[in-house]
Amino acid sequence: MKIGILTGGGDCPGLNAAIRAVVRKAADYKYEVIGIKDGWKGLVDIDTVPLDTRVASGILPRGGTILGTSRTNPFKTPETAESVIANIKKLGLDVVISVGGDDTLGVAAKLFKRGVNTIGVPKTIDNDLSGTDFTFGFDTAISIVTEALDRLHTTTEAHHRAMIVEVMGRHAGWIATYGGLAGGADMILIPEKPFDIEEVCGIVKKRSYEGKGFSIIVAAEGAVPKEVEGYITKDTKKDAFGHVMLGGIGEFLAKEIEKRTGVESRHVVLGHLQRGGSPTAHDRILATRYGVRAVELINEGKFGRMVALQGNKIVDIPLEEGVKKTKTVDMEIYKVAEVFFG
Ligand code: F6P
Repeated sequence: MKIGILTGGGDCPGLNAAIRAVVRKAADYKYEVIGIKDGWKGLVDIDTVPLDTRVASGILPRGGTILGTSRTNPFKTPETAESVIANIKKLGLDVVISVGGDDTLGVAAKLFKRGVNTIGVPKTIDNDLSGTDFTFGFDTAISIVTEALDRLHTTTEAHHRAMIVEVMGRHAGWIATYGGLAGGADMILIPEKPFDIEEVCGIVKKRSYEGKGFSIIVAAEGAVPKEVEGYITKDTKKDAFGHVMLGGIGEFLAKEIEKRTGVESRHVVLGHLQRGGSPTAHDRILATRYGVRAVELINEGKFGRMVALQGNKIVDIPLEEGVKKTKTVDMEIYKVAEVFFG
C-alpha cells in the first residue's frame, strides 16, 4: 500500500502532529508513505518527498507543516483536474490523505467521485467543518485569542478606551465566540448575526460613562453591520477558490465608535498570529487521533471518508457530508456569551 499525504489551505497548529501520526501508524502496517508538497500543487507539479518515522520524528510540537501548503484548486480547470488524476496514477498512490478545511477536502470529495481513493482529515482554526465537533487548530487559536484579550484588558482599562479585536472567521464566528467567552469580551460580533452599530455604541457609551470605563469588543473578520451589504474588506483580491480576502472590520468599527460616542478607540488585528506556533495539548491529541484513524480506515478499505470527532469518539463520515455546508456557531453557546455583554 502506498499512501500520499498532503496539507492544504491555511495552515494551523497540529498539522505536523497529524503527519507524524499517519507515518507512525502506517509503519505498523508496513505501508509506504510519501509527502506531497504544498497541498494539491504537489500533485499538479509532481513534487513529493519520502516520509518515514525518522523524518516524522520531533515534529509533534512544531507549528506550520513540514510539507508546506497552498490554496491551489486543481478543479479550477478541467485540464489540471485531469493531470492531478493522471499524476496520482503515475506516482503509484493507492490513496491520498488530505489534511485540510472545506476547500481542500472538497477537492478530495470530488476526486473520490472520479475514482481516486481519498481520506480526509479535518483541520482549520475556524472550526467550521460539518460532521465534526472540533477541527484541530481551533483550540490553539482560541488560546492565543484568550491571552491577547487578557493583555488587551490591562492597556484598554488604563487608557479608558474601546478596543476592537479582529479575529479570523470568515463565515462562522467560532473563534470570536469561544475566544471572546474565555477572554471576557464585552461584546462579540459574528458573521451569523448581523449587528447594529448603534447597539454596539450604546454598550460602549454605557460602559464608558456609567460602568468600568473601557470596553473590549471581539469581531470576527466576517462580521457585518446590518446596514452594510456584503463584507467589509480592504481588498478585492480573491484566492483560487474564489474567496475574497477579508479584513478591515476592526478598523471600521474603531473609527465609527469613536465618531459616534466620543470614546477613544483602537483596533487590533490578531491575524496570522492565531495560526502560528506550537499546538496546544488538545490539538496535538486530536490531530494524532485523526491521523491514526485515517490509516486504520485505509487498512479497513474504507475510502471517501472524513475522520471526525463526535462527543469524545473518533468516527468517520462521508467526505461530502463534512464539506456540504459551513458549520455555524451553536447559538446556545453564543447565548451564554451574551450574558456578559455590556
Ligand atoms: O484558515 C482559515 C482562515 O483562517 C480564514 O479565517 C481567513 O479568512 C483565512 O484563513 C486567511 O488566510 P490567508 O491570509 O492565509 O489567505
